[in-house]
Amino acid sequence: MTTNIANNATCVVAGAAGFIGSHLTDRLLALGARVIGLDNLSLGKRDNLAQAFENPNFVFEQLDLNDRGPCLEFLRREMNRGPIGTVWHLAANSDIPAGVENPEVDLRQTFMTTYHLLEVMRALKIPRMVFASTSAIYGEHAGAVREDSGPLLPISNYGAMKLASEGIISAAAERFLERAWICRFPNVVGSRATHGAIYDFLKKLRKNPAELEVLGDGTQEKPYLHVSELVEAMLFIFQRAGDRRNVFNIAPATGATTVRHMAEATVRLAAPGARIRYTGGSRGWVGDVPRFSYSVEKLRALGWTPKLSSNEAVELAIRENLEVPKK
Ligand SMILES: NC(=O)c1ccc[n+]([C@@H]2O[C@H](COP(=O)([O-])OP(=O)(O)OC[C@H]3O[C@@H](n4cnc5c(N)ncnc54)[C@H](O)[C@@H]3O)[C@@H](O)[C@H]2O)c1
Repeated sequence: MTTNIANNATCVVAGAAGFIGSHLTDRLLALGARVIGLDNLSLGKRDNLAQAFENPNFVFEQLDLNDRGPCLEFLRREMNRGPIGTVWHLAANSDIPAGVENPEVDLRQTFMTTYHLLEVMRALKIPRMVFASTSAIYGEHAGAVREDSGPLLPISNYGAMKLASEGIISAAAERFLERAWICRFPNVVGSRATHGAIYDFLKKLRKNPAELEVLGDGTQEKPYLHVSELVEAMLFIFQRAGDRRNVFNIAPATGATTVRHMAEATVRLAAPGARIRYTGGSRGWVGDVPRFSYSVEKLRALGWTPKLSSNEAVELAIRENLEVPKK
């Protein structure tokens, strides 16, 4: 099966002003699609959509997806201009520690956004959803996790609400969705980041170029994927995987990156000579999975492989984020 994105009606990107959502929006527009971006700008920024706003095929509406009535009415009006084929659902709480502090944050921003979006899609007969899921749904596993690894016992509220979202999307695929794609992202890096270790390190170094404080002991080790490759993988999966429910891990070409490596690379590129101080302990925060590795055999068998290793993706992302002056 191959789905042509430009000929495939209008699409919605929920969470369009966020880090990944804005890159996906730019790519969909470049492929000729008409894109409706939705975001409440709680974490995302209008600036991330500067390029998209120049494209006449882009429409943006600032709204909270949990306000179902206004969301439904807005999309109903947009459908007068043509059918909507796919919702790319990337809206969520991306601040994992905030969800550890207050589970309500993940319930509302990560799960309820999925629930309300699906209800809007059912009412408007929008047939397809692509969902941004995460490695956090797996919890802690020894060895490389496969899409069918289990039991799935997340250790963060964020992971739990993403897993619940996967569940309700699967149920919707039984009731009214024609097709659903669940993409389980690793850690994603690149320009326009709104959070994450590189973002935090650069922020700290701007404040104090002499010292970088790093949470944990630096041994946490995870695969990092560049956002450009993530977006290509999502598009590839959407175009090629034709089951009613499609679940894929996405990861970099090889390896994983330790927090120590990331801290040292950030210091080398942003503030040479700064001292690195580790706070100690094997994980950065409660709910942090300190070490994980992905099996991407299924994606490889579908025909997609990334080019960058985890360390290369990290280095590229540090350079990209350095180019943008921050207040
Ligand atoms: N960045 C990563 O490393 C990573 C890893 C795994 C999964 N993901 C998932 O990918 C998606 C995008 O992540 P990101 O890194 O771009 O995060 P992000 O915070 O930059 O983007 C999420 C966007 O959703 C918006 N949003 C949140 N709640 C909303 C609501 N109620 N109504 C409307 N908009 C709302 C935010 O304002 C933000 O712009 C998320 O679902 C995230 O869980 C990201």
